[in-house]
Amino acid sequence: MAVAERRILLKHADQEGYTPDIECYLRHGGYDMLQKAVGMKPEDICSEVMASGVRGRGGAGFPMGMKMKFLDRKSGKPIYLICNADESEPGTFKDRQIIHKDPHQLIEGMMITAFAIQAAQAFLYIRGEMQEGARLLEKCIEEARAKGFVGENILGTGYSCDIVVHRGAGAYICGEETGLIESLEGKRANPRIKPPFFPAVLGLYQCPTLVNNVETLCNVKHIVDMGGAEYAKIGRPNNTGTRIWSVSGHVERPGYFEFECGALTYGELIYDVCGGIRGGRKLKAVIPGGSSSKVLRAGERYKGTLKDGTEFDWGIEDIPLDFDGPMAAGSMSGSGAVIVMDDTVDMVEAMANINAFYQHESCGQCTPCREGSLWLKRVTHRMVTGGAREEDADLLKSIADQIAGRTICAFGEAASWPVQSFIAKFKDEFVAKAQSQANGEVKRAPYGGYPLI
Ligand SMILES: Cc1cc2nc3c(=O)[nH]c(=O)nc-3n(C[C@H](O)[C@H](O)[C@H](O)COP(=O)(O)O)c2cc1C
Ligand code: SF4
Repeated sequence: MAVAERRILLKHADQEGYTPDIECYLRHGGYDMLQKAVGMKPEDICSEVMASGVRGRGGAGFPMGMKMKFLDRKSGKPIYLICNADESEPGTFKDRQIIHKDPHQLIEGMMITAFAIQAAQAFLYIRGEMQEGARLLEKCIEEARAKGFVGENILGTGYSCDIVVHRGAGAYICGEETGLIESLEGKRANPRIKPPFFPAVLGLYQCPTLVNNVETLCNVKHIVDMGGAEYAKIGRPNNTGTRIWSVSGHVERPGYFEFECGALTYGELIYDVCGGIRGGRKLKAVIPGGSSSKVLRAGERYKGTLKDGTEFDWGIEDIPLDFDGPMAAGSMSGSGAVIVMDDTVDMVEAMANINAFYQHESCGQCTPCREGSLWLKRVTHRMVTGGAREEDADLLKSIADQIAGRTICAFGEAASWPVQSFIAKFKDEFVAKAQSQANGEVKRAPYGGYPLI
């Protein structure tokens, strides 16, 4: 039997009759936790977040409490809060569930966080394509302002903080926090060099800034509700709370699901929750945390020792669905986007598709990323359009190796990791592609037939 979902953030989202307006939210206890929070000392809320162990849900999994602690309070500059609602990692569709179905939960999470860090102003940076979400958030912020939850003198405390919704223009790099900050400042979203531009010290307008993902910020409301220590009991050590997983690809029932971290494995998610591989076909590969995470091949084994000393010997099916499980298997949980591929997938075509995406989205500042992502795309495009060469697998790997670790931002890794892992695990298919073309395989355009620049 499938492990049951534990819906905390999505508790109301899909309930019949639940609507995104403030009246409905208030009927369900909405803004009670903001009321509770403003009666606490701001530093005590930060301590509860630290005690909860909640890790960022946007990609890197960094503890939120630590980021709050790193905020430079000595400079005397205003502190800013940014909610990252860019949600552009391919395969990810979780934040938009909250934005569309329970937007006040996000607004409440933001206002509690803003109060905790004594932010002078909060920004909600939303992906350009999510027009409806942006409109809804604007309306909901207006509703919350009218009731005294946002804006001047919040709940009569004397503390004031407004939220500005800022729409991106549809670039993936706007999700990288320093690119996002540049964009928010009205510039091209070129990521900044770290150090010195760690947002907690030199963020928006060169002021200390806390940047967190939508899902991360929603958790703060529940941490205030149950207390950090109680929250930390959900999930498992170092993997606390629930996570919302977006499952796409070749399963019978794709969708989004909220589970306690580590309550089930990738196998249980794919076979029990999502009904298995479509049409009874065989599993070929899983991308466990969005397109930038390293691919896992069906049948391979992952062996090692966990931090708590436990030895493991896993197949994909055995990997715990949390932060540390995919990491131990040499990949990452990233944005929680699980992309399942069955045995019909041509891995060279899949690679060509991914490479086209990263080439298109590189901001172009760093030569290894700008040139390397273009070459990765060119090589895989050539491979799927009839010009594959046996040495292409090694060529791709060597290009990717020259990008990773040599760039301003982690986009360099995001573009390289898929290539490095596809070649490490499916090199046979890349070589076979060249051989089959030499033997007269029919040439066809890759997905979408994107143009070669
Ligand atoms: C290329 C790139 C794209 C990213 N896109 C997103 C995104 O769309 N949404 C997001 O929340 N974080 C994204 N991130 C991660 C952010 O830089 C940042 O770590 C995150 O917003 C912090 O929030 P969290 O600690 O709550 O996860 C991206 C990172 C990189 C390197
Ligand atoms: S790694 Fe790529 S996306 Fe990041 S700053 Fe350099 S060129 Fe831009």
